[in-house]
This record gives sequence, structure tokens and C-alpha cells, in this order.
Amino acid sequence: MARVTFEPSGVTVECPDGTTLFDAGARAAGVAIETACVGKGTCGLCRVKILAGADALSPYTEEEERHLGNLYHLTRVRLSCRTRVSGEVTVALAPRPGKGRPRPPRG
Ligand code: FES
Repeated sequence: MARVTFEPSGVTVECPDGTTLFDAGARAAGVAIETACVGKGTCGLCRVKILAGADALSPYTEEEERHLGNLYHLTRVRLSCRTRVSGEVTVALAPRPGKGRPRPPRG
């Protein structure tokens, strides 16, 4: 069994090995992973930041590189629908850059 903790809520869900982080999020109360394609790997919205347990995740995919670039080693951001878990991980929801941040005051 895999075990995924979603921050900042701290909600933890257990799921079979090989479950995507997106599907694990759908099982967890209070975890709303942004999506437009509902797990097909095309919208690039379902971003999560890996806080711990990266070794328990499937390899970075071409779809992820297309949407997120090749800076995973710096950003630690993955597409939850392309990332399968086999172990224990902790992630945080990671909105797109520029989204969910306060706007600077108008001058
Ligand atoms: S849900 Fe659209 S890319 Fe993951």
C-alpha cells in the first residue's frame, strides 16, 4: 500500500501501489487538485510539489516535461495525474505560477 499526505491540510490517504497522486487526492477529503482534463495529462493544471518521498514516485514523464519544463530538480513540482506512488510521500498543492498569489497594489 502507498500512503500520501497532502499539505497544508495534513490529510493522509492510503491507496494501492501504482495509484496516481491525482487519484489519491480524489480519495482524500478536502483535497481539491486543479484540473481541466480530469487526469489525461493534457491540461497541466494538476501540479503538486513533492515535499518528501520522491524515491517512491514513478519517473518524470514527457507530458510533465512539456508542461513543467526540465527543472524538476529545482522546483520539485510534478503533474499529479502522471505521477504514480509506491510508498510514502508528502506533497503540497502547487498552483500555476502567478495563480493564487496576491496581486501587487496598483500605483
Ligand atoms: S489533470 Fe490535466 S494534466 Fe493532470
